[in-house]
Amino acid sequence: MNVVASNKVQSMTASIFQEVADRKLEAIKRGMNVIDLSVGSPDFPPPSYVVDTLVKYAMDPTKYGYTLRGTAEFHEAVCYFYKQRYGVDLEPEEEVLQLMGSQDGLSHLATAFINPGDYVLVPDPGYPIYEENVILAGGNLYSMPLVEENQFLPKLDEIPEDILAKTKMMILSYPGNPVTALADRAFFEKVVAFAKKHTILVVHDFAYSELIFDGNPQISFMSIPGAKEVGIEFNSLSKTFNMAGCRIGYVVGNAQALGVLSSLKGHVDYGVFFPIQKAATVALTSDFSALQTQVKEYEVRRDALISGLAKSGWQVVKSPATMFVWAKIPSGWTSRQFAFELIDKAGVAVVPGDAFGKLGEGYVRIALVQPKERLEEACSRIHEFLFQYSE
Ligand SMILES: Cc1ncc(COP(=O)(O)O)c(C=O)c1O
Repeated sequence: MNVVASNKVQSMTASIFQEVADRKLEAIKRGMNVIDLSVGSPDFPPPSYVVDTLVKYAMDPTKYGYTLRGTAEFHEAVCYFYKQRYGVDLEPEEEVLQLMGSQDGLSHLATAFINPGDYVLVPDPGYPIYEENVILAGGNLYSMPLVEENQFLPKLDEIPEDILAKTKMMILSYPGNPVTALADRAFFEKVVAFAKKHTILVVHDFAYSELIFDGNPQISFMSIPGAKEVGIEFNSLSKTFNMAGCRIGYVVGNAQALGVLSSLKGHVDYGVFFPIQKAATVALTSDFSALQTQVKEYEVRRDALISGLAKSGWQVVKSPATMFVWAKIPSGWTSRQFAFELIDKAGVAVVPGDAFGKLGEGYVRIALVQPKERLEEACSRIHEFLFQYSE
């Protein structure tokens, strides 16, 4: 029997990531020592007290049942974290919803809020699930170009009125993936006014809220007056506390919107493993000194990569945030040619920019998920590669 994916699944963009993974494997099979800078999974460990908590509760056989929802303690911990880190007050029961990673919530967004014919505004380039969740739900997409000339912010005034009349939701992420740009308060204020005027639910993905460099301000969308009336914000323990494999995150903000997501979740999952919830609670209420150290370490890696690439004449913009460098590639290549050849010939794995949308063409995403020395080794391999294969 030939089992064929639905049209919806076939139109999703995951195939590029698969191709990167396949080429990586092939290179390894050929005996290459591949430096993998393709996947945004942190290589740093979680704080030791987080691991200790997880182990302690995992040893208790009474903690293996369904949890169904976030514990009250976890909800309180999110409120504490948001107050401490971003100066935002949240109501623990109504304005916090626990997720199995923010991906869990992002993938169900359009199913929860969108009917056929409704439009969703998404960034291009953007994190793939923003588009894919809309495709899966049968909604319509309108891409908001993020270009360097406009500091990677969408031009809201250029979205046509007839699209706005049918738009129910917009997705933003600052700092984002792959575009690592930050938004300022003035932009977010404009978004709140725009959303009110056109009755649009704003979804802000703040997964990289704690990887912001060079003393730039960490601005939660929820700290903008009126934001809770129009929006929700996703956050995660994956990057902040290096708990990506634990699958725990949350969404905060508009109580009505969270209620809708929560009722959908009631049908699709039965909650996060209790020991993981406990570990996450400890992480969110810690003294946060580990966060500062971590930011410094990512800054060191970023600087090593940027200056290493500059030695080959490849000038790349310094990321103000996140664990990525969004690098415009040298001329003469497409993103895919460049990324795939780089894996095949140099054993350095990065993601071609068009995996994130049409406007990602001409870029690659490089993840800072290896120690400085390994990034320096990647730079020397890239140096050789450019010398041998560039026009
Ligand atoms: C921008 C962005 N949002 C959300 C996620 C999902 O993270 P998680 O489901 O681990 O919370 C990622 C993961 O890489 C991401 O890059």
